Amino acid sequence: MKICGKISEIKKHLKTEKAKGLTIGFVPTMGYLHEGHLSLVRESLKMTDKTVVSIFVNPTQFGPREDYQQYPRNIQRDTAILEELGVDYLFVPAVEEMYPSGYKTYVEVTDLQNKLCGRSRPGHFRGVCTIVLKLFNIIQPDWSFFGQKDAQQAIIIQKMVEDLNLETKIKVLPIVRDKDGLALSSRNTYLSPTERKAALILYKSLQLARQLFIAGEKKATLIKQAMIDLIHQEPLAKIDYVAIVKMENFEELEIITDKALVAVAVFIGQVRLIDNIILSEKEKTHEKNNAKK
Ligand code: PAJ
Repeated sequence: MKICGKISEIKKHLKTEKAKGLTIGFVPTMGYLHEGHLSLVRESLKMTDKTVVSIFVNPTQFGPREDYQQYPRNIQRDTAILEELGVDYLFVPAVEEMYPSGYKTYVEVTDLQNKLCGRSRPGHFRGVCTIVLKLFNIIQPDWSFFGQKDAQQAIIIQKMVEDLNLETKIKVLPIVRDKDGLALSSRNTYLSPTERKAALILYKSLQLARQLFIAGEKKATLIKQAMIDLIHQEPLAKIDYVAIVKMENFEELEIITDKALVAVAVFIGQVRLIDNIILSEKEKTHEKNNAKK
């Protein structure tokens, strides 16, 4: 695995690979890798000839009172994991490499960036889009891989790719969870053992939504209230949002007709966690048929 810190260096390597007619897969991350990240890496290794992973804790996507400084980092461990998996290139730029002094250009996907997580994290998606577009321009991947864990991020990035006529194709992969259902996240390391148990309430609330939907409930307002009531039973939990929205524009749904994104953001103590599921009529039929078997 080649490790590059400089933009010029990684560009040079990838130019050579492309001249050979090889396809490039790209997995952007902020590091402290877990199985969620690795599922994306494995898919890239399967689907493309050369896989590039980036590790960059991007300062512009953190708010002034957020955890940029504390965000967990372990580049040595991450490097060993990626090497073992057979990744071809690791891009680990310094902050000054991506944002040299006097940096002035930012990218916004209007409207979508202000909903859900954007409401409580103003400027977050502006930072995400800016860094992802820069990385796309540097790597010029054929395929880029994102996780459903950050559902809003994946949808916003796909919109940016469409609107700005970018060449990369995007693949979004399912949420990887711990055995008990907690969605893997680098931020789970902030949780104390008691908080770790309490954090299960996110997954439980989503399961409740799915159960109600499969049992025939279509009223989003009612499902949402049941989720809120359940989360309130957990003393360590404080709701940031519970939302049942249209996939395309994150507008609140009253009735689930076809497909809905059910997304939650909950503080467990000081730690803000997110999770989501997609409910669809198709899936419902599928589950009912499975139950009959
Ligand atoms: P990070 O949080 O490190 O996540 C990198 C990628 O891994 C994202 O696409 C995210 O959705 C995916 N991921 C995280 N946890 C996952 C899980 N449990 N299951 C499946 N996929 C999971 O997201 C970012 O970094 C940054 O915003 C970034 C896109 C790198 C821009 O800075």
